Amino acid sequence: MAVNNYEHVWHNGKFITWREATVHVSTHALHYASSLFEGIRCYDTPHGPAIFRLKEHTDRLVNSAKIYRMELPYTREQLAQAMVELVRLNNVKHCYLRPLAFRGEGEMGVNPLKNPIEVYILAWAWGKYLGDEALRNGVDVCVSSWQRFAPNTLPAMAKAASNYMNSQLIKMEAITNGYTEGISLDTNGYVSEGSGENIFVVRDGRIYTPPMSASVLPGITRDSVVTLALEMGYALSEQNIPRELLYIANEVFFTGTAAEITPIRSVDRIVVGKGKPGPVTHALQDRFLQIVQGRAEDKYGWLTLCNLPVAAAR
Ligand SMILES: Cc1ncc(COP(=O)(O)O)c(C=O)c1O
Repeated sequence: MAVNNYEHVWHNGKFITWREATVHVSTHALHYASSLFEGIRCYDTPHGPAIFRLKEHTDRLVNSAKIYRMELPYTREQLAQAMVELVRLNNVKHCYLRPLAFRGEGEMGVNPLKNPIEVYILAWAWGKYLGDEALRNGVDVCVSSWQRFAPNTLPAMAKAASNYMNSQLIKMEAITNGYTEGISLDTNGYVSEGSGENIFVVRDGRIYTPPMSASVLPGITRDSVVTLALEMGYALSEQNIPRELLYIANEVFFTGTAAEITPIRSVDRIVVGKGKPGPVTHALQDRFLQIVQGRAEDKYGWLTLCNLPVAAAR
């Protein structure tokens, strides 16, 4: 997917242009993957552009930095404010926001501690991540031969660029074999997540999702879906999911900022349920989209309106 980028970029407290947003080849992150990021959607709502769960995404970036001993030179408030201002300056109705913090140019070698920390925020237009039909009809996926990294190897709770080398192996294998996406298992053989999405399974009226101990990213859409599912009266368990439950489930779906709530219609060519999005997936997808698109009351305060003065934007 080519980047349909927006002109203005935030860099270390200043606005620059997309073309100016470049780095030197000796940048530490390019050699040693010392880079952390976030992915956030800003939705077009009747009240103007609104960023979804800005606080939680900013908190996750700060947590990723803490895990990697990276002292961000900006506060949570400054980063959140920068994203609101970036949306305004680019004058867009909706976009995808990509804050990125990495170790820059300076020393060479594995020790990253002396390299400067660079923070950028990019904005671009991102449509339906898994394809235009995906949200409506579902996607065909496989279980990957690549496992998710083991606990105490790479921290799954950090959204770090290094984790996405594992995701890339999963994604490339899936695409090469004719699937849209791959699901990784954890090192105990339980279901973990997609290459860029968390996963939910519905069986006999109960919703299941893997726990944090299954090497999953603590997804913010995952958390939103758990909140909505409980609000809507569904029984939900965070528990280890054996691979075969995917094959005999009534419904399976992915969640993620890019993928939103994407139904899964087959796993390893075994049809899930009736081979089309089921009622629970539908109900959650509807409720989620109504809230993020500003068509239902924002009762959890998940939207930050960008048209308001910054101090009042929430
Ligand atoms: C590996 C992985 N898991 C899960 C998710 C879903 O997280 P979120 O809902 O916060 O976007 C993402 C996307 O960010 C991801 O890359």
